[in-house]
Amino acid sequence: MARRKKIYEGKAKTLYEGPEPGTIVQYFKDDATAFNAEKKAVIEGKGVLNNFLSEYFMTGLTNIGVPTHFLKRINMREQLVRSCEIVPLEVIVRNYAAGTMAKRLGLEEGTQLPRPIVEYCLKDDALGDPLVTEEHIAAFGWASQQDMDDILSLALRVNDFMSGVLYGVGIRLVDFKIEIGRIYDGDFQRLIVADEISPDSCRLWDIETGQKLDKDVFRRDLGSLTDAYTEVAKRLGVLPKGATPIRPTLIN
Ligand code: C5P
Repeated sequence: MARRKKIYEGKAKTLYEGPEPGTIVQYFKDDATAFNAEKKAVIEGKGVLNNFLSEYFMTGLTNIGVPTHFLKRINMREQLVRSCEIVPLEVIVRNYAAGTMAKRLGLEEGTQLPRPIVEYCLKDDALGDPLVTEEHIAAFGWASQQDMDDILSLALRVNDFMSGVLYGVGIRLVDFKIEIGRIYDGDFQRLIVADEISPDSCRLWDIETGQKLDKDVFRRDLGSLTDAYTEVAKRLGVLPKGATPIRPTLIN
């Protein structure tokens, strides 16, 4: 079989050329990184869990009319997605103070925010993805005003959907990050949700106990990341109840 062409290798995923023009195969690795890759580990089964969870969230978004790059899951670790031009911003939505916002503003983690707050960071690993304002975005031309209106609307719709779905299984959506892709349909361009939505890019706390079920388990050495992600997957019915954490031997 001909070797696939690798397009890009990131920290948690590798992208390959897809079978049709305009498609990409997104492969989820077991690699975990934190603090701009200063902390690294290989966490058995993480890629499989994120592949399934991202499929779950992206499919749900598509079903309520929020456009995403997701086309279909191919196997345990890979999904087919639409190729798009990534807007060079990380879009963060926060419902409760945590992480860098808690630190920056001196807020206690878990404080409910008066309303969802959307932040933008420039996607630049060398600079540590710095927080930027809409003034920076406009002045440097990273996105137009129309793009920013569309991005804000997408981000808040994703927040409403994710918050509701997770609340239904006893999980609080504290915050999350999404990436936005630009696609061209003839003369028109559209913005869509791209990359992944998984516990790698969200903060998820058990509503009853406050237990962390996201990448902070790895960042802060709080136990087994696979167990935390498996718990999220089980509650959402992405993994059958009683299933043991997925092992790489199941990869097809
Ligand atoms: O670190 P910070 O508090 O700014 O992160 C906010 C949210 O964005 C968290 O859910 C975190 O997992 C996510 N994030 C991400 N990738 C980054 C930065 C933040 O997924 N590069």
